[in-house]
Amino acid sequence: MKRLLLAVAALFAVALSASAVAIIPQPQSVTEHNYNFVVNASTLIVCNEEQLVPIAKYAQEYVKVNVAKTAPKSNYISIALDKRLAEEEYRLSVAQEAVHIVAGGYGGAFNGVQTLFQLLPSAVYTKNMPLPATVCGCNVADKPKFAYRGLLLDVARTFITKENVLRYIDYLAYHKVNKLHWHLTDNQGWRIEIKSHPRLAKVGGFRGGDSPINAALGKWGEKYGGYYTQEEIREVVAYAAVRNIEIIPEIDLPGHSGALARIYPEILCKNSDGTPRKSGAVVCATNAENYKFLEEILAEVCALFPSKHFHIGGDEVNMSQWKSCPDCSAWLEKNGYTDGHKLEDMFIGRIQDILAKYGKSPSVWNEAAFGGGLSKEAWVHGWKSPKICKQVMAKGYPTIFMPQQFFYFDMRQSEHENGAVWGGCFDVRKVYSFDFAKEGFTPEEVAHVKGFEAAAWSEVFLSQGGDKSIDFIEYQTFPRLCALSELAWGKNGGGEWQEFHNRLYQHHYDRMVDMEINFRITPPKVKYSEGMLSIEKIDNSVIYYRVDGSDSRKLYNGAIRTSHPGKYLFWAEYRGAKSPEVAHSSHYKTLKPKVTLTSSLKDVEKYGYHRVADYYMSIRVAETYKKGDWFLFEFDEPVECRSIEFITGSHAVPSRLITKGYLEVSYDGKSFHRVAELNYGRAKLLNPKPIKAARIVATDDDVPGAKIRLCSPIIYPKW
Ligand code: ACM
Ligand code: ZN
Repeated sequence: MKRLLLAVAALFAVALSASAVAIIPQPQSVTEHNYNFVVNASTLIVCNEEQLVPIAKYAQEYVKVNVAKTAPKSNYISIALDKRLAEEEYRLSVAQEAVHIVAGGYGGAFNGVQTLFQLLPSAVYTKNMPLPATVCGCNVADKPKFAYRGLLLDVARTFITKENVLRYIDYLAYHKVNKLHWHLTDNQGWRIEIKSHPRLAKVGGFRGGDSPINAALGKWGEKYGGYYTQEEIREVVAYAAVRNIEIIPEIDLPGHSGALARIYPEILCKNSDGTPRKSGAVVCATNAENYKFLEEILAEVCALFPSKHFHIGGDEVNMSQWKSCPDCSAWLEKNGYTDGHKLEDMFIGRIQDILAKYGKSPSVWNEAAFGGGLSKEAWVHGWKSPKICKQVMAKGYPTIFMPQQFFYFDMRQSEHENGAVWGGCFDVRKVYSFDFAKEGFTPEEVAHVKGFEAAAWSEVFLSQGGDKSIDFIEYQTFPRLCALSELAWGKNGGGEWQEFHNRLYQHHYDRMVDMEINFRITPPKVKYSEGMLSIEKIDNSVIYYRVDGSDSRKLYNGAIRTSHPGKYLFWAEYRGAKSPEVAHSSHYKTLKPKVTLTSSLKDVEKYGYHRVADYYMSIRVAETYKKGDWFLFEFDEPVECRSIEFITGSHAVPSRLITKGYLEVSYDGKSFHRVAELNYGRAKLLNPKPIKAARIVATDDDVPGAKIRLCSPIIYPKW
């Protein structure tokens, strides 16, 4: 019995000490000791390696102590090189007298400092940590499994200010993410100053208003956007370099070139009758002038980024624009081809030759990897699926895994949250669950994987509300990026979700709060049985609830007896961070009464107004709307409900919507009453009188190019 008790006590001690060191991403090896190092005001950061001085200075921003070149007897944190280790490898030893970080190179030393930060109180991230502060004694031996641990930041669709990009770089650095794939151009914007062609950024950096680039996300008439000057780009590159982050720029070619083509339409193919094409998003592959023009642009971009790698796009080329071009189709015919991909291969080959002149190697999206002309040095970003990644790898290319089903962080995280829908619906757990073996990869194949990348595409971000859009990007990125970081580091925690989740909520939630990241908390589980509604807590956050239709927040402190479980909405909060609201499944039941839809505007037949009766969430309007245009919903019978919502734009994200307008309803089908103004294209009525008909009326003055969508109304039954 005594032995058993001792064994239990020993296990308990291990469990307790195991929680003292809880790092994300989990290091390869950690040994804990039962003593501490204490950082106080006289602790020194010691560094006599010129190359590592930026890291010492960086560490000093967070831990406010002096930096010195030589070590005193004790009470110091030294950062040094040991060339026997790999570049990103480090050893961290925390003894009572001193902390030693030794690393193979700059990256390893930086990684060691990040691990040290995670051993300190989370307040270290506020840059205002009270001293003395305690570090748990330990030895860490660590290096990443994958060399490429990246995030794509799409600043083309939604401009992100330089200050917010720098903030993002800090967040990546805290997670040992070492690549930023900077998506600088696309159909919707050109965000980098090109001195030889200044109109590209000056005009192409803005959407809406008098810009030739249409707005698309509900700001039709208002001009908005921005771009980075070359000086700002250099500043961001230098800031990232200190943080062990290599920036890989992307100029997306030959498709996704809509912004470029709005400003220089001459880069497009000709129409089949030889006349100039006015719209399109694909660069003509056979016009020799285009290569001269592109070289002028690319040369400037190459000079700004020290990375050897330059992403030139290659995704989703609309081949019909080439096939209808007299010159491009003649080229195909002359060479005996029918497949437009041959033109893409030729195009990529020529751009690759241009890049080679400037010492750069191309990176491309997976579509461009199959033509045969792409240099074997090129990095390929596999976005479509794990299967495509496998095919790319079989061609011998260093492959970066970013299948949309796991790593496109613009996708919504649960069914009732905002976010894009086309690529899946997943949260941090799914990201963490990515498993090479389950996806059919052999260990030999895995050994050739270059790494992982998440994508923060921003089509859906702006619409989340002006200055708040950056909060939504953070919400979409964290904690999913924590899982990506762990995956790319090698899942040294063993790969069990529960073990990772424990580290995440018990330690990393605090860190993310102090990092000032607007992260998402995984919501609790709602249970209902024998008239009792209860919550299964999955972490240490506090649970609140509200009754449907009310904003009054109540603390949840035990099961609720109710015969209407759907009436209650629960959420978790942790030091200001929040989960989405969740409810019992009965909350989400909707009514689908018979309804017809008519309008002053024509619809797109296949996705048209008739689909309103199917309760379809993406009805397409064929014509641009203007002031006074209307949409009329008529119900066969007056609808009784607890709430009804009319939505212009898309369902899961407020985009393609009517910016200004109102909702009027009729209880008798004859006379109408104006009851609500549209807010982000939507109007929701709570406990309305039975509604026979409802009409949305647009009031915008000027909405150039506004192609809108519409949803069937969402109607919730009375309790
Ligand atoms: C992509 O999502 N078109 C790379
Ligand atoms: Zn052409």
